[in-house]
Amino acid sequence: MRQHVNPLSKYFQEIESIPQIDQIFKYPNLPTHLDIGCASGKFLFQLAEHNKNWNYLGIEIREKLINNAKCKLNKEEIDNLYFIFGNADNLLKNWIHKYPDQSFNSVSINFPDPWFKKKHHKRRIIQAEFLNKLALLMTTDSLLFIKSDVEDLFKYMDSAISNTLIFEKVNNKNKNPKGIYNPSRIKTEREKYAISKNFTIHESTYKKISIIV
Ligand SMILES: C[S@@+](CC[C@H](N)C(=O)[O-])C[C@H]1O[C@@H](n2cnc3c(N)ncnc32)[C@H](O)[C@@H]1O
Repeated sequence: MRQHVNPLSKYFQEIESIPQIDQIFKYPNLPTHLDIGCASGKFLFQLAEHNKNWNYLGIEIREKLINNAKCKLNKEEIDNLYFIFGNADNLLKNWIHKYPDQSFNSVSINFPDPWFKKKHHKRRIIQAEFLNKLALLMTTDSLLFIKSDVEDLFKYMDSAISNTLIFEKVNNKNKNPKGIYNPSRIKTEREKYAISKNFTIHESTYKKISIIV
């Protein structure tokens, strides 16, 4: 079993220079989907190939995986896909600081590292502060998708997201699949593994709501 990368380690305070989204995609006016913890990027390569009407951006903290994904991307001519190495929390902070007008039309956090021990819960990607930053970079009515095969983690994430009052849960069955980033319901690598092991997959979708002050 792989060792999780500690996102709070000093090494990950350094991140690669973040780009302005309209400079990395050939058609910057297309909606942009952000996948946090994209691992090898296989899921995003498939999405980018299937849905030319979306731009896809993957963030991953494991440097080797992202370097391999970038090499593959350089060899193939795909103009609606981009990868960035770093701790998602620091990358979002940097975006807000450098490009406050940056916005994503949808975001997925698929099967994030569970960090089972209570003393390690602070390493989980979903934290109140993180969600506040993420919401600043999302357009009103944009969707946040989460999935996990760890029930406790899923409950923790669901409650953290609901507690922000910035996101409203969307009934999965009523969602129009055509308007979303993954209309063909392509599976992530962890999802395929979870299915092969008959694990229960928990998933939820939330809409960013406008905040009236
Ligand atoms: C269990 S894997 C799931 C990968 C993929 N989303 C899937 O569903 O197959 C979780 C991924 O999130 C990455 N990750 C964990 N914490 C992160 C962080 N703070 N920033 C960016 N990536 C992170 C891990 O390195 C790992 O690749």
